[in-house]
Amino acid sequence: MGFVDLHSHVLPAIDDGAKQLVDSLQMLSLLGQLGFDRVHATPHQKVGSFVPTREAIDAAHARVVAALPPGSVDLRLGAENMWDELFLERSLDRTIPGYRVAGDEASRAFLFELPVALMPPRMEERLFAIRRGGPLPVMAHPERYVALWDHLERFEALAQRCALVVDLGALDGAHGVRQCKTARWLVEQQLAHAAASDVHQASDVRLAGAGIAWVRKRMGEAAVTRLLDTGPRRILNGELPD
Ligand SMILES: [Fe+2]
Repeated sequence: MGFVDLHSHVLPAIDDGAKQLVDSLQMLSLLGQLGFDRVHATPHQKVGSFVPTREAIDAAHARVVAALPPGSVDLRLGAENMWDELFLERSLDRTIPGYRVAGDEASRAFLFELPVALMPPRMEERLFAIRRGGPLPVMAHPERYVALWDHLERFEALAQRCALVVDLGALDGAHGVRQCKTARWLVEQQLAHAAASDVHQASDVRLAGAGIAWVRKRMGEAAVTRLLDTGPRRILNGELPD
């Protein structure tokens, strides 16, 4: 089977990702060439910048799907939820938008991100409460959070509470030295459960390709399969991969 992308901004004019339909189609075609056969679009849900409605997301998704040539990647939905007041409200109501795999079936996992500089108070506790009887939390770009750079030991506990999905571009240094070091460490320690493109524009796909090449060279083909195929599929199923 092909790769599954758990994190991308490929819907046109929905967030800070693709601007127009033509951008979406180009990004998806390039992701297909990299080996992805399924891509989840995960538009931002972030108070103060982008909170697209479900209707707007569905309409943008339908537009892209209708324009995709036959044999293209399978485009599904999701969301990237910023850990803000809206997220906390939704976590209590159990309405955090998650990965949409099949029809109206309830999501088994959802993607979230944190503010870069400060860890939210009682985060591990909240993750545990959300996970208990609910969907699997999936942390986007764990290598990005400054507060964790000098406390790598926290990742051991976090990896028990949520899935960790590193950005492929970070593995090749596209996001700076500290992010690169942390992302590589997470992969080498096998704490990263998956890797994803997080593409916002077509040029990001090349960076994702460089990240895949790094994993292949450093860790071998089995690690590529674990991070981009079996890992993501288990996450979508709500399971925390080993
Ligand atoms: Fe993102």
